Amino acid sequence: MIAIGCDHGGYELKLEIKKYLDEKGIEYKDVGCNGESCDYPDIAKDVCTLIQNGDAEKGILICGTGIGISIAANKHKGIRAALCTDSYMAQFTRLHNDSNILCMGGRVIGGGVAVQITEAFLTTEFEGGRHQRRIDKISALEEN
Ligand code: RB5
Repeated sequence: MIAIGCDHGGYELKLEIKKYLDEKGIEYKDVGCNGESCDYPDIAKDVCTLIQNGDAEKGILICGTGIGISIAANKHKGIRAALCTDSYMAQFTRLHNDSNILCMGGRVIGGGVAVQITEAFLTTEFEGGRHQRRIDKISALEEN
């Protein structure tokens, strides 16, 4: 199960990503918004809560630039949100960072690139090994 959410700046791109998820038969829960003006930290919180509670395995968050919503998501314990602008970033943030949320900017990238990014993010497994040690160090920083 994927949790997906956006603010008004990411709404159009979210529709394109949802179309891709539908075509692939990937289950998702959309926490909003529906195009109306809203505050991206509220949307980030709803997606992060679904992941923290084990109700979603991964999340996708979209705002205008992808920056605000990734900053907000990364304030949540256990969340590793990665802002990606190409599929290389999406692949390597899964391989090396075990990121559990993909962030994108609806005003920055087009639908075709965003779908490529999403596919790389959802199909790449964490490599583990030395990268797990680094993830553990990130987790330890949450206690500061
Ligand atoms: C909303 O206008 C915009 O500020 C937001 O979508 C995002 O780009 C913030 O980082």
